[in-house]
Formats: sequence, structure tokens, C-alpha cells
Amino acid sequence: MTQERSVRTVPAMSAMKAAGQPITMLTAYDASFAQLIDQADVDCVLVGDSLGNVIQGRDSTLPVTIDDMVYHVEAVRRGLQHPLLIADLPFMSYHDRTRAMAAAAAVMRAGAGMVKLEGGAVVVPIVADLVAQGIPVCGHLGLTPQHVHRLGGYRVQGRDEALARTLQEDARALEAAGAGMLVLECVPSDLARGIADELRIPVIGIGAGVDVDGQVLVLYDVLGISPGRRPRFVRDFMAGAGSIPEALRAYVEAVRERRFPDADHSYA
Ligand code: KIV
Repeated sequence: MTQERSVRTVPAMSAMKAAGQPITMLTAYDASFAQLIDQADVDCVLVGDSLGNVIQGRDSTLPVTIDDMVYHVEAVRRGLQHPLLIADLPFMSYHDRTRAMAAAAAVMRAGAGMVKLEGGAVVVPIVADLVAQGIPVCGHLGLTPQHVHRLGGYRVQGRDEALARTLQEDARALEAAGAGMLVLECVPSDLARGIADELRIPVIGIGAGVDVDGQVLVLYDVLGISPGRRPRFVRDFMAGAGSIPEALRAYVEAVRERRFPDADHSYA
């Protein structure tokens, strides 16, 4: 007998956190992969602006436009039935209220169920405005790729005390503004665990250790086909798998059983 699978919603993700069930998330950019990810029973699919890197071959996410996002959200939407679909708001599309509303409306109309945006205190008023209009928001702190030029590269964030404190304060402020989820990228595992323990909303890690509420990876990293150097937090799940569906299921099982990430794929 086949088990009925539920459509994942933002409140369902909070319920998973409350029940201590790890949340699985992968990026996708087209309908075919979206369908395979859905069949692997992944909880959330992120149309990330990482499409600038892995689809467009650019060296950062900065050139990605709202039109690019809408095109890929529409494609992914057609391949999905069950997972919660989250869409990134691209660089400089949410720096003021009017633009943020327009950008969020565009990706929600394209089929997203939540938008993700990068940054701390400075985006808090925008988050509150979007949530007040009924648009669920996922925050993104730590290594925020849209800020790569200010950060001086793609490196671990929050190892020093001052930045760790700022990250904790930003996480609290995003939750207070109504964010329904938070992605933490490339932060020491202990710092990530403290933030996940303190917040009620799900904290999804990428290079943030195993003691958070779920994990996200870029699909092409999971399949071992991303161009360039592989970051420490990435595991190629195709190695040892006989097919793409098998690799996706291996990722889902490893996250649900808290076998991924291990210490080799995390930062101290
Ligand atoms: O754009 C993206 O794919 C992301 C994930 C890496 C979290 O933001």
C-alpha cells in the first residue's frame, strides 16, 4: 500500500521542528529535477539565486534578475506537487519596500509559497512588511553570497565573538519581524546550534553543522556536477549511488537520520 504524502506548508515546517523531525531541502531550477526531488520526498525546494552560478556559469549570484527567478520558479512549480517551494529574491530587488513588494509578488505569482532574502537588521522592516501582506519569509544569515564583495570572499562567518553576537541578534530580530524560517550558511556548528535552540522557527543549515532543524544543499553539489572547487560542507551523494533518484534518497535519509553533515562537512 502506498502511503499518502502531504503537501508541505510553512506551519507544517514549524510543526516538524517542534516534533524534532529534521527538515530536508534542496535547490532546483527546472521541472524535471523538481519532479525527481519531489519523488525523493524532500520537504522544501529552494529556487536559489545560486542558479547564477550553476545554471548561468557566472562567478557570483549578483547578476541574477527577478525575470530569471520568475522563469525558474515557474518551471520548478510545474514539476512539484508536495514540497514547499521557496524562491530567492535576487540582489537589490528588496532594498526598499516598493521593490521588495514587487519582487515578492512576482515570484509568489510564479508559484512560490515563501520568499528568501539575505541579511540581518537592515532587512527586518522589509520582512515585517512582506509578512504583513501575507507573504511568508525565510531569512538567510552567515555567509550571504549577495554580500560577497563586502565579505571579501566565500568564508566562514561568526568565528569571532562580535560577529557571532550580531548573528544571534539578527536571528532574533528576523524571528520577531515574522520570518517563518531561517537559513544559516557557513557558521561554526556551536553557534548554529545555539541559534536553532533559541528560535521557535526552523533553522536550516548549509555548512552549519548537524544540530540545527534541517539541511539544504545545492542540487548540483549533491550530484557532484557543480563547476569549480567543492566547499567543505558539500557531499557528493552520487558517489556510491547507482542513479540520480538513489542519490537524492541517500541525501534525504542522511539528513533525516542526522548522519549528514558530519564533522568533516562542518566548521568548528
Ligand atoms: O541560492 C541558493 O542556492 C541558496 C542556498 C545555498 C541556501 O541560497
